[in-house]
Amino acid sequence: RAVSLIGVPTDIGAAHRGASMGPEALRVAQLDQRLARMGLDVCDRGNLHGPFNPWQPPQDGYRHLEEVIAWNRALHDAVRAELAQERLPIVLGGDHSLAIGSISAVARHCRMHGKRLRVLWLDAHADANTSSSTPSGNVHGMPVACLCGTGPAGLVEIGGQVPAVDAAAFRQIGIRSVDEGEKRLVREAGLVIFDMRHIDEVGMRRTMEEALAGVDDNTHLHVSFDVDFLDPAIAPGVGTAVRGGPTYRESQLCMEMIADTGRLGSLDIVELNPAFDKRNQTARLAVDLVESLFGKSILIR
Ligand code: ARG
Ligand code: MN
Ligand code: MN
Ligand code: MN
Repeated sequence: RAVSLIGVPTDIGAAHRGASMGPEALRVAQLDQRLARMGLDVCDRGNLHGPFNPWQPPQDGYRHLEEVIAWNRALHDAVRAELAQERLPIVLGGDHSLAIGSISAVARHCRMHGKRLRVLWLDAHADANTSSSTPSGNVHGMPVACLCGTGPAGLVEIGGQVPAVDAAAFRQIGIRSVDEGEKRLVREAGLVIFDMRHIDEVGMRRTMEEALAGVDDNTHLHVSFDVDFLDPAIAPGVGTAVRGGPTYRESQLCMEMIADTGRLGSLDIVELNPAFDKRNQTARLAVDLVESLFGKSILIR
């Protein structure tokens, strides 16, 4: 299988500076070599370029909207180009606002090829805020709303169709922080959320069976892996940590069960923030988990 790494070194949509160092941290943790060793044809496309972070307060409910749009346009085009060449794009973020460009390109590709899209959103946060519900103005808290058609034109229209994605395509897993106003939006949009309580009660195995139900040969699976999905005890290198996330074992099982479907078509690795990390352990953990996502198993080579 052919995969392409696309570095997107920006923290333009985040609450803290430092996610811009995510792509390098993943390279230092040898993401490319580890995937190549598993037999994948890996090409690192290097980094995209975009505006610097001006670090301004929000305007009309958004921080850095123009800059977020610029980065997402560039990423949309890059992801689209990889998919057109039958290569699986791996987005090395960068903050989670980048999922807007990435997933709108994936959705466009699926429309063109008659594929059904399923988005697995692994995250502590629902990321479904709008300019009126956001407590922060940070666009990394808004990508799900934007993809479902609620947000500024410059973001919701990137994929050439509004909404870019049907809300019913999402399965959110690991959620444990939803803002007050965001709760209503999540309910109104009908987003399917497997929150931490659900995982506590039924376990990761049944949760993933439910999240993957209905996936068939015609499904394109997109995984949007916000590293703050993981419990901060094992993954401190994120800007918006929330305690009580999946353990190492639960996270491995989650990735392995996705791999077992054989339908993985694209991936974002976002919100890794080396400024909060120690000895690059969070990047190394993310790389471990991504190996499992691509089918590394304990007994079979
Ligand atoms: N809900 C909070 C906000 O809107 C935090 C969002 C965090 N999102 C993330 N991708 N880390 O500001
Ligand atoms: Mn294709
Ligand atoms: Mn998050
Ligand atoms: Mn997120």
